[in-house]
This record gives sequence, C-alpha cells and structure tokens, in this order.
Amino acid sequence: MKHFINLKDIPAKDLRKILVDAKKRKNARKSLNNLDQDKSTPLKGKLLIQMFEKSSLRTRLSFYLAIKQLGGSTLTLRPDELHLSKGGESIEDTAKILSNFGNAFMLRTDKDEKLEEFKKHLTIPIINGLSPSSHPTQILSDVFTVEEIKKKPISKLNITWIGDSNNVLNSLIAASVKFSFRLKVGCPKKYQPNKSITSYIKKNKNKILIYNDPKKAVEGADVIFSDKVISMNDKVDKKKKLKNFRNFRINQKLINFAKKDFLFLHCLPRGKEVDEKVFSSKHSKVWQQALNRVHVQKSILLYCFGKLR
Ligand code: CP
Ligand code: NVA
Repeated sequence: MKHFINLKDIPAKDLRKILVDAKKRKNARKSLNNLDQDKSTPLKGKLLIQMFEKSSLRTRLSFYLAIKQLGGSTLTLRPDELHLSKGGESIEDTAKILSNFGNAFMLRTDKDEKLEEFKKHLTIPIINGLSPSSHPTQILSDVFTVEEIKKKPISKLNITWIGDSNNVLNSLIAASVKFSFRLKVGCPKKYQPNKSITSYIKKNKNKILIYNDPKKAVEGADVIFSDKVISMNDKVDKKKKLKNFRNFRINQKLINFAKKDFLFLHCLPRGKEVDEKVFSSKHSKVWQQALNRVHVQKSILLYCFGKLR
C-alpha cells in the first residue's frame, strides 16, 4: 500500500512507472465508452471514498470514472454531513471507519495537516486531491499530456508557468525536479515562491528561473502553464492582487515570445489570466488535459494498491 500526497516524496522511477502504465491503459481502451470497464479490472470489489472540503468538478468526475473503469466503485462524502469537525468526531475515529468500509481515500482539503493526520490513522491509501500546498494528481497528469502531445520526454522541453505561486505551481516545481525539465516562472515579485519552495529547489540542485517580466519567462517556451490568480480560499485583497497581475495576462502579444508550436495548458477553472483568443486557439489543449486525468489517476490508484504492472 502506498500513499499519494506529494510528488516530492515519491521516487521519480515510480512516477515514470505511473505514466507508462497510464499510456498503455489509455491506448487499450480507445473504442470504449466512459463507463465501460478496462479489459482487466484489477480493482474489482474495491471502494474509493472521496471527500471534498472545497469545490471540484474535474477531480470528482475523473476519480469517479477512474475507479469504475478499473472495476471498483466510489462514494463521495460531503464534510458537512459527517460528524468530523462540527460534530466533534476525531480524524482518528473517522479514519478507522473509512479504513474498515473503504479501500482508498481521496481527500481535497483546506489544511495540509489533515492529510498527514489522516495518513497516520488510516490503514488504506490516501490520495491528495488538492491541498493549499500542492495538487499532485493534476501535475502528474499534465506531464502525461505534455509528453502525449509533444511526443517527447518532458526533460527535452522548455516549460513556463505564468501565474501565482500556488499549489499547482508547487507541484510543477516538484515535477521539474523529478522529471528534470527546465522551468521558468513568471510572476510579480510580491508573489514569488516562498522560502520553503526556493530552498527545496536549491537542495535538489534544480535550476528554476524566476522572472518578474512575463516576456522573459515565455521566451522560447514549448509549453505555457497557467492557473487562476485567485485560488479557492485565497484570503487576499482580490482587487489588489488582480491589479498586480495585470501585466501577466496571457494574450497574443505575450505568446509571440513562445515557440511557434507551443502548447497552452491550464488546470481549470479559469479566470481572466488568459485571453479568450489564446484559450480557444489551436495551441490550447485544456480539454484533452482535463480528460487525461482519468487515465493518469487510474494508474495512481493502481500504484497506491500495489498493482501497477
Ligand atoms: N483542475 C481541477 O482540479 O479541477 P476541479 O477543481 O474542478 O477538480
Ligand atoms: N490553484 C487553484 C487550483 C484549482 C484546481 C486552487 O487551489 O483554487
């Protein structure tokens, strides 16, 4: 049994194994419907329990299809219907029940500490479906999408992030260490990655370049990633933050600095950080990106269950 909480804690060879498996499984079900099971159903009889403390569309749907296609089933819990927190039931007791009734637990949470606390008491794998500090299932899937479209290892590509220093960027930074790709970050000085992130980068002898000029960050990019400037539960002066990001909008002028065949990716939902023209251009692969989460999360589930081929 293995947990999937942060990319930085998972060996690079395991992450690569997940991507290889996802590719095989995706190719093997080209003519199947979403709810059709794979030819082999290694998670038959298994229950994935999901709980979302924050909104979700893609993560919810993709995990639903992922476990179904592997032969299992899922149940989604609403935190406001449990005794946990308001009702006073502890994480320890909740974890005991989840472990007895289910076979894996996917949690989207408001506090990273909760993932650790659940991990301590669960006897089943826990998967981080987004926390304030990371979004590992998203980024692993995004590496898959980049390699699928570009048809080369991500280590051979120039990756750019334009946006806030948030959970998604933190996972992208961890992926850059694990998969050895060049990463340039473009954001206003005030919103640069914090000390713990920059010391992680240094410790791993990684070269992640941070620019306060978006043009410099986009120069020569094979892939431009972005995300909303204001994340869920971001307790900032929203007006001020949006104003600070004014020059970082991904528009026609900015993308001229990227390679001609660059890709635009965005985890979604989107805000105003990208122009409609770029978002709906041939460079944008956001819908394929979202769908790939099903395929990669299937292999993440298999990794957690110790059933990766
Ligand atoms: N990208 C992503 O995680 O989307 P949801 O918040 O809709 O799950
Ligand atoms: N950074 C965003 C990602 C949403 C999928 C957030 O945390 O709200």
